[in-house]
Amino acid sequence: MPQPLWQKSGIQIDARIMRFMAGDDVLLDREFFLCDITASKAHVEGLANIGVVSAEEAAALKRELDALAADFTRGAFVLDARFEDGHSAIEARLTERLGDAGRRVHTGRSRNDQVLVATRLWLKDKLAALDVACRAIAQVCLERAAQPAIPLPGYTHLQRAVVSSTAMWFAGFAEGFIDNALRAQQTLALIDANPLGTAAGYGVNLPLDRAHTTRALGFARMQVSPIYAQLSRGKFELAALEAFASALLDLRRMAWDLSLFTTSEFDFVHLPPEYITGSSIMPNKHNPDVVELLRASYAMVAASRCEIEQLLSLPSGYQRDLQFTKGALCHGVLHGLGALELVPDLLTRMAWNEPAMRAAIEPAMYATDVAIEHAAAGVPFRDAYRAAAEAAAAAGQGRTPEGSLAARMSPGASGDLRLDELVARLRALDH
Ligand code: ARG
Repeated sequence: MPQPLWQKSGIQIDARIMRFMAGDDVLLDREFFLCDITASKAHVEGLANIGVVSAEEAAALKRELDALAADFTRGAFVLDARFEDGHSAIEARLTERLGDAGRRVHTGRSRNDQVLVATRLWLKDKLAALDVACRAIAQVCLERAAQPAIPLPGYTHLQRAVVSSTAMWFAGFAEGFIDNALRAQQTLALIDANPLGTAAGYGVNLPLDRAHTTRALGFARMQVSPIYAQLSRGKFELAALEAFASALLDLRRMAWDLSLFTTSEFDFVHLPPEYITGSSIMPNKHNPDVVELLRASYAMVAASRCEIEQLLSLPSGYQRDLQFTKGALCHGVLHGLGALELVPDLLTRMAWNEPAMRAAIEPAMYATDVAIEHAAAGVPFRDAYRAAAEAAAAAGQGRTPEGSLAARMSPGASGDLRLDELVARLRALDH
């Protein structure tokens, strides 16, 4: 590693201590590097606006920043242990190429607001991707909910309860993922504030053009207080992970259903072949590994959230502990997105096994219909309930799953799914 930016003369750098402090930073900063470069360009423009760098210097700095981004993208520049972190790498490269102009680039900024703005831009991008993924899942669910419904046992306590349907199952997850998309959008709006220009956390004695950097970077607003900018590190990461967790929680329960429904005992669902794996020893096996990993993905996000929460036991102001939030953030967000992005295709192509589903509907599952019919005809519900309980085994007489589903006219249930309302809510999320 060349000399750190902050090295004082006369003090020998200890390699082991440096390695410990740098940690995984150069690896993690690869994830944020392009965002850091984008923010650096806006910072340079801001400096030019207040005369700290000349127009020529600004043009050269921006040209070199673009070249660095291009080199990084095609692998010609590797962010590795030669550097303490991504921020130092940017300054080192600009100084190497441009001399004094490079040495001016850090005027009025600190790595503290530099890392904040880079992770903020990255988070905005990932929340936008979360929004897209949730809307794609909701869309497929709505399409499949609109297909002719197949009766499906509805379970409570994992015991057969009432007749449900594939349309109800899909509509339920559609509404869930509409909410999850909304949550992603709301979280994006919450964090859409520019921390660049807050420097180390206390501002600087320069009239930095924060309005310009806010506009240039596409932020909705400036994060005004330098103190709050530092307080929001980790806090906004947690908010984003909560939005991811909301989606992955629904996915966990969907995946649980699918893993259950693909067992030989249920056999309600056949997954597309690409989602099924074999066993290394048991030639007969067809395993739903993908579905299981989708189910497990919530745990990763929850763990990332917990890790960041633990790190945030801090006083105000920048503390180096915050560096460790990056690993947890990348782990949770990238894994969560990878999981969610597989779901639309899986849901589009999974097939219901109608004979097995129909065979699983037993007469007692109409007992609730019987009790409610009598109650609607004037029998006090508790009496109707008792009578239906005693005759539960005969409840299916003259009844069909289709009849039960069609009569379920309570709004949102199978007789009145209100898919149009869900479609309208999904449309309203488009912008
Ligand atoms: N790698 C550091 C982080 O992620 C960058 C900021 C370093 N700031 C400092 N004052 N040492 O937090």
